[in-house]
Amino acid sequence: MDPVDKKADDKVDAVVATLVDVTRLQELQEQRDALLRAVSHDLGTPLSALLLQAQMLQRSLAPGDRHAKRVATIIANGQRLATMIRDLVDSARLESGRIQLARKPINVQTFITELVEKLAGTLSTERVRLSFEARLASLPADPDRLERILVNLLSNALKYSDAPAEVFVHASCADGFVTMAVTDHGVGIARQDLPHLFERSSRAKDNSRREALGLGLYITAMLVRAHGGRVEVESELGQGSTFRVHLPVDNGVATPVP
Ligand SMILES: Nc1ncnc2c1ncn2[C@@H]1O[C@H](COP(=O)(O)OP(=O)(O)O)[C@@H](O)[C@H]1O
Ligand SMILES: [Mg+2]
Repeated sequence: MDPVDKKADDKVDAVVATLVDVTRLQELQEQRDALLRAVSHDLGTPLSALLLQAQMLQRSLAPGDRHAKRVATIIANGQRLATMIRDLVDSARLESGRIQLARKPINVQTFITELVEKLAGTLSTERVRLSFEARLASLPADPDRLERILVNLLSNALKYSDAPAEVFVHASCADGFVTMAVTDHGVGIARQDLPHLFERSSRAKDNSRREALGLGLYITAMLVRAHGGRVEVESELGQGSTFRVHLPVDNGVATPVP
């Protein structure tokens, strides 16, 4: 309905107004921030201490110790919990629109190569194959956030495909965009799930590989958008998936007129 209901003689008969109490909104926002700080700090701190001790215990075990498996399980579950806490806090932060990117020129080839080397301890990176286009442009991106985007896509590709299937990462550059593609030959994604993949809690109903809260792709898409880019997926059930992230080489910041 038109908010101003006019009669035929053009005289205003009724006006519909919506008043929003912004102070209440602000209060809620502050409460949410306080809760977030509490979650990330009060849950995160004891968990880090616990993980640190478990890792020290792991290192002190003699090779073949009968408790090795138990300690590894403690560490793996602690790490999962830490990921969930981080995802919860990050998604709430991103939703509230307060995200400051610290962009730096990034050499995409070096960045991806070093990242995959660094992940060797936590992901089965021996299945990952890298390839780069010869003339890759330097990319203005926030390195921590770019790492987050790539780790999310890589860990999914490895999680939703089984060894020895390889996972391919390819970076290319065209039309002012750097494209980073992550391809796996794993379980694939059902057609009906594709349109909702980047929404909050988009995890497929029959997904048995639960490790996090299913916020990974949601956060990934928000971080890509924050960089002025976009993310796409192509997938077929039982065949595998390709996720493509396109990030602009020109970050859109206008050069000041001298
Ligand atoms: N490479 C992939 N292959 C198959 N399914 C995937 C892939 N990546 C994501 N998915 C599906 O999308 C869902 C959401 O992914 P994500 O947000 O990373 O959450 P999570 O990894 O915690 O389940 C996953 O639960 C899974 O169903
Ligand atoms: Mg994930």
